[in-house]
Amino acid sequence: MTMPLTDTPAIAPTAFTRDPLWWRSAVIYQVYVRSFADSDGDGTGDLRGVRSRLGYLQELGVDALWFNPWYPSPFADGGYDVADYRGIHPAFGTLADAEELIAEAAARGIRTIIDIVPNHVSSEHRWFREALAAGPGSPERERFWFHPGKGPNGDEMPTNWVSNFQGDTWTRTTNPDGTPGEWYLHLFAPEQPDLNWNHPEVRAEHEDILRFWFDRGVAGVRIDSAGLLIKDPALPEVPAEPRQGEHPTEDRDEVHEVYRAWRRVVDSYEGTRVLVGEVWVPDASRFAAYLRPDEMHTAFNFDFMTRPWSADELRASIDLMLAAHAPVGAPSTWVLSNHDVTRPVTRYGRDDSGFAFAKKRFGTPTDLELGTRRARAAAMLAAALPGSLYVYQGDELGLPEVELPREVLEDPMHFRSGGIDPGRDGCRVPLPWRGAATPFGFSPDGAGHAASAAPWLPQPPEWAELTVQAQEADPGSMLWLYRQALRIRKRERSLGDGPMTWMPSEPGVLAFSRGEDVVCVTNFGAEPVALPDHDRILISSAPLVGGLLAHDSTAWLHRTA
Ligand code: GLC
Repeated sequence: MTMPLTDTPAIAPTAFTRDPLWWRSAVIYQVYVRSFADSDGDGTGDLRGVRSRLGYLQELGVDALWFNPWYPSPFADGGYDVADYRGIHPAFGTLADAEELIAEAAARGIRTIIDIVPNHVSSEHRWFREALAAGPGSPERERFWFHPGKGPNGDEMPTNWVSNFQGDTWTRTTNPDGTPGEWYLHLFAPEQPDLNWNHPEVRAEHEDILRFWFDRGVAGVRIDSAGLLIKDPALPEVPAEPRQGEHPTEDRDEVHEVYRAWRRVVDSYEGTRVLVGEVWVPDASRFAAYLRPDEMHTAFNFDFMTRPWSADELRASIDLMLAAHAPVGAPSTWVLSNHDVTRPVTRYGRDDSGFAFAKKRFGTPTDLELGTRRARAAAMLAAALPGSLYVYQGDELGLPEVELPREVLEDPMHFRSGGIDPGRDGCRVPLPWRGAATPFGFSPDGAGHAASAAPWLPQPPEWAELTVQAQEADPGSMLWLYRQALRIRKRERSLGDGPMTWMPSEPGVLAFSRGEDVVCVTNFGAEPVALPDHDRILISSAPLVGGLLAHDSTAWLHRTA
């Protein structure tokens, strides 16, 4: 038996605003389908599960949903190993389910953004299987990076490039006759062979995939690992200190041509469809080059996401990123987390509250109460900054990172670190919706249901306090804060896209105005501080103390222009 779907009227997917600039201030909610809601009781989330909770997302006040890859995939990397870009993973549903979901969301004023993974495919993708079967020198292999090994027997890797998941980036193949063969490149896991973007068929195929989904009403694409597509065909080693654009696999100048071509596809569609890049490029001006008017619309602002909880650090990041965006005319995005990084309430409750993949360890001491308080303040700070805002599912519930038992971990980042890095499963645990025990309404339970399979990752028993149901009944909850803040953000025209102006503030405090009438103040210090002039308080992340802004909290103020 499946969960009842909400009763949605059949409205054409035009119910949302026709504003061509919607993406400049949108609130975009990231749906990790596998962990959002399970309609059929197999312990894995699915598209019908999402459809059944569209009311929740509408109530939260989001403008768009970004879905992590929902395609057929062996899940060697949580779906970032795509076997077929035009289908839906059978555990998630069917293409018809996706079409209905896109239309139903649109009828509620919510756009759909999907995840496109252009750098690599699954080793189960038809192209890669054909390439293996066809053997060395075949045209099928030219779509990938097959290369003979070095050394007399070809048993040394063509380069010593290190994987983004640690370890090697080349795997040796076996020839159809059983002898050791060529090597192929994978910047991530061996199950994710890299495509050769110098090949015209690779380019044409992806432009066709974009059209396939835009034709189905998708409003935008999130571009996975967007800076990695182009490789130096000479396959040099990574220089000790590569000059800009000189790294053999990262941020090469030729990659911009790909996105210019994609932009032409995007712009050929009615309504504004958008390109959102996952661009991990440390230099802010190189990052902003992806956002030139004929390339992507926006990209994830990871500088802000990875900084520690500190007024100086975050102010420096805001200034850096706004200055980098200004010359290209693109708005910044504000992101506190995603399916790859430690949840904010955990991160901000640690001595080192910044984020770096290389620093993740089991057993890191965490003060969740402090982290939650800071995550509330951070959410309001991010929501007040100029540009668009991303919310990763579960952050609106204040879910912590879960330290899972090793035997349930699936993430290749964990295994390829030799078991030192806990990996990314801890932020991917299925959501708690209601009730006192797992599956907390994630899967169907109760009368009339056969027992559901356990959620694909175990939910901690303490999550009984963090369910949607529990939080809806508690005006002091994270969910209430998010709902109220997003409502105010939509209502106050000075928030969202537009200018911001820093206001004088004491050390450890950030204060800025948005337009004439809205002020945002965050107190990072230990002592309460006075609020700037205002006529009313719009919302605060923690109660004021004798009219003062308490430690680790943010307030939005209204003042008369
Ligand atoms: C991106 C994704 C991450 C994935 C990687 C390889 O960084 O966000 O989850 O593992 O690309 O596709």
